[in-house]
Amino acid sequence: MKSKKVLKAVFPVAGLGTRFLPATKSIPKEIMTLVDRPLIQYAIDEARAAGIKEFIFVTSRGKSALEDYFDYAPELESELRKKGKTDLLEVLKDTNMDSGAIAYVRQNRPMGLGHAVWCARRLIGNEPFAVLLPDDVIAAEKPCLQQMVEAYAETGGNMVAAMEVPPEKASSYGVLDIGSDMGSIVEAKGMVEKPPAGTAPSNLAVIGRYILSPQVLTNLNKIKQGAGGEIQLTDAIAEEIGKSKVYGYRFRGQRYDCGSKAGFLQATVAFGLSRPDLRDEFSAYLHDMVALQKAAQ
Ligand code: UTP
Repeated sequence: MKSKKVLKAVFPVAGLGTRFLPATKSIPKEIMTLVDRPLIQYAIDEARAAGIKEFIFVTSRGKSALEDYFDYAPELESELRKKGKTDLLEVLKDTNMDSGAIAYVRQNRPMGLGHAVWCARRLIGNEPFAVLLPDDVIAAEKPCLQQMVEAYAETGGNMVAAMEVPPEKASSYGVLDIGSDMGSIVEAKGMVEKPPAGTAPSNLAVIGRYILSPQVLTNLNKIKQGAGGEIQLTDAIAEEIGKSKVYGYRFRGQRYDCGSKAGFLQATVAFGLSRPDLRDEFSAYLHDMVALQKAAQ
């Protein structure tokens, strides 16, 4: 084991979520539900499975529903208990967090992902930390962050989740310039956020899971606005290349971009079909829908 344990995770949830307007006018994107669980619950479960003990949310104006979500609901629990609904009680229990395990910091203005993570610097202190973007939902046998924590225990340094994307899509992502390629782990010799079309150094894109050294926070102190006029986390990580190691980790699993409408719909179908209580009815319905669509063409 080369590295310190990762016990803290940052969940940047202060973005405006404009792609889901008008819903996000009053509902935080992270509270939107895949089947019956909000996006944030999937991210929390993944972090817990990876051994995270402290959960730091970077929030903003209009996100109070997110904060309320993690509170105990005594009236609801006692009502369910009275009615003998033990299965639903168990479901609720999974949403409860230990006292003091969650902390909230505010990002006053949406200045970018890098800025959001920087807002958490005092709570992170001088230790490695994870970052999870709840709108990247990853279905995997072993949760993605757990895979990364295990790999990181061997490598140390900084690690970002990585996934091959079609070349024409690369300009929507942070992209790695691959130094050495060891299969599931690659060492980056460069990293660029949203490269202009045709200039991406590879088609290995960065996905919303990171394990970072506190040095990245120091880099963020001086990072200027980058792609899209935002303070980019990618730029602060790229600063580390040549000073410490930056690895890309090709995770095993299926990632859904739930920050986009198409990705959210795809995830809804995939998660609906993976649920034993819904699978039969839902797949019969989808089957009929596709047949109807075909007949109409
Ligand atoms: P996105 O790029 O998806 O932005 O942010 P967004 O505001 O959430 O959504 P759109 O593009 O307007 O539809 C990726 C992640 O970074 C967080 C978001 O909350 C999301 O989890 N973020 C982004 C912040 O916390 N602060 C920011 O200033 C920007």
